[in-house]
Amino acid sequence: MYAKISGLGAALPSNKILNEDISSMLETSDHWISTRTGIKSRYFSKEGESTGDLAYFAAKEALSDNDLDNIDLLVLATSTPDRLCPATAPKVAARLNLNHIAAFDINAACSGFIYALQMAKMGIESGTYRSALVIGADTYSTITNPNDRTTYPLFGDGAGAILLNASEHENDLIDITLGSDGEFEDLITIENGGSESKLKGIKNILPNYFSMSGKEVFLKAIDKMKVSVESILSKNNILKDEVDFLIPHQANMRIINTLKDTIGFKNVVTSISLDEYGNTSAASIPLAMTKSLLNNEIDENTLGVMTAFGGGITWGSALVRSPSIGIKVGIKYL
Ligand code: UT7
Repeated sequence: MYAKISGLGAALPSNKILNEDISSMLETSDHWISTRTGIKSRYFSKEGESTGDLAYFAAKEALSDNDLDNIDLLVLATSTPDRLCPATAPKVAARLNLNHIAAFDINAACSGFIYALQMAKMGIESGTYRSALVIGADTYSTITNPNDRTTYPLFGDGAGAILLNASEHENDLIDITLGSDGEFEDLITIENGGSESKLKGIKNILPNYFSMSGKEVFLKAIDKMKVSVESILSKNNILKDEVDFLIPHQANMRIINTLKDTIGFKNVVTSISLDEYGNTSAASIPLAMTKSLLNNEIDENTLGVMTAFGGGITWGSALVRSPSIGIKVGIKYL
């Protein structure tokens, strides 16, 4: 069996925040944010628009009426779950009337969607599952410090979902490679609040915000994604000129451009959504792909690469074939 892409969906919360809105509350400017990152706006959640809510609406956009009958796996990539315990995936599944299926969260931060895709691909190719929903959803506005200009302007909330079906002939997830290096856990972190800080006797440290060593992450992101993309191409005997489209993690336009230059991708169609959505962490790749398909930027049945880097540190790439025109694709703005 192979995994075939049968639907794509995305969801954005209702509160659109422009760079000008951020610069009215923080010592920053539209000029700094847009020239250093490429971000012009992002969406922030309000009550009733949690990670689980966004995941649900993204999944609904990816599904047609009769898809639910076969779905037997839901994997949700997130590092901002609705609750620390339990996982958010079962709640999303139940809301979709899939109260009986296997459903779990994966936390590989911004690389989470590629990790989740690999779990679903293996489940389908082994014959264990017939159909899987893979969702990336995050609400970083709930963990970034509104007074921290090094993180708050960069992230946005959102969700993206892909429906995979088992197919005997159509192979849309050709190969996936994943990696991690926990030596660098401090580069992207919420340091307190987990078991480690409790065992150290640190109690009730609130507020407990997300932090990132931007410059170091910038360099590592380029390096790890480059090696990961090159290794998946060479493993599958694919030349860089044979790649039609690239769906990179949407953190910074300068990272994306440097990555393309260092790999030597000259004419690849590149999915970009960070200008409107900011860095949506695990949601960034399915959101970017959904937007590109809706804008007809990616032709059907062409060869592409997804690549991501995130906290952990983690990284991963997927060699994919674009789905046929006519599958369900939609974005919901709440
Ligand atoms: O999604 C997970 C992976 N995350 C990423 O891939 C993000 C990777 N990192 C980046 O995208 C970039 O490093 C940032 C956008 C975070 C920062 O851009 P940079 O060009 O690396 O800036 P920098 O950190 O070197 O800071 C340059 C200057 C500093 O001031 P001084 O020390 O030169 O006076 C910062 O304090 O820019 C200052 N700065 C800002 N100024 C205005 C930092 N943030 C801001 C801001 N507005 N928002």
